Amino acid sequence: MKWESFQSKVPGKWVLAGEHAVLRGAAAIALPHPELGLSLRFEPGPAGGGIEVLPSEGAEPILEIIAALPEAGQISGRLEIESTIPWGAGLGSSAALCVALARWFSGPLGLSAAALPDFATKLENRFHGKSSGMDIAVILAGEPVRFLRGQNAVPLGIRRLPKFTFHDTGLRARTSLCVAQVEVYLREHAERGAYLDQLMGCASREAEEGLSLYGSGQSGEGLRLIAQAMARGQQCFEAWGLFPDSVRGLRQDLLERGALAAKLTGAGGGGMLVALWDDPDRARSW
Ligand code: PMV
Repeated sequence: MKWESFQSKVPGKWVLAGEHAVLRGAAAIALPHPELGLSLRFEPGPAGGGIEVLPSEGAEPILEIIAALPEAGQISGRLEIESTIPWGAGLGSSAALCVALARWFSGPLGLSAAALPDFATKLENRFHGKSSGMDIAVILAGEPVRFLRGQNAVPLGIRRLPKFTFHDTGLRARTSLCVAQVEVYLREHAERGAYLDQLMGCASREAEEGLSLYGSGQSGEGLRLIAQAMARGQQCFEAWGLFPDSVRGLRQDLLERGALAAKLTGAGGGGMLVALWDDPDRARSW
């Protein structure tokens, strides 16, 4: 195995529609984050010198992952990770790290491109417990995708996107706890729970159609469908009890300033609100 100089840049991700229901077979529409991302740089050092991971605060899980590689002792050098993706905000911080690590390992370990999604998803399971694999899929694709659990993500081939802005609720909730909350909801309200999964699936279909129309120049109808999809997604978060009361003011503010829709993105319970705009100038005032 040869560990040479390596560099990779990957985006964060966000979810337009399909959260939670994707775990039970619905489609989800996920996009790379337009601004936030992670870069990984490796410079080999003298043999036997060990590996230094920077910044040192986040080094532990990375060193564990490296230690589990075959012939890990052969790796020596300096690994530098720079990320603008906030941790735990549903923007794919751990998935971005795992995709970058998987790309770095792929040369020395001889991993094919087809093997990367699985490999990176297994790495991510160390951070999260079992995930749907959606974050990994969209970050690897680097473009908007339709994702179905257990299948390869389908790139949507959209070249022009409307303006979305991202607003930190200041709250953080563990994905695993949010997933467990929806499972409890489903057990206690089976019929309503199944309806909400269908509603989220419907939101994903509308979101995809809306993105495609917008991308092909039919802006008005595209925005209408995307806004409708986001409203349906938001309705699901509220029904599942994953929309904190303290976030209502921020959402209302966005809508009063002209956002066409605003919803939580990711697992819910906090994290980020995403807003859709028809007028980039109004969006910029945020
Ligand atoms: O964005 P995240 O990683 O917090 O999770 C959102 C998506 C879920 O459907 C809730 C979980 C998953 O793995 O798909």
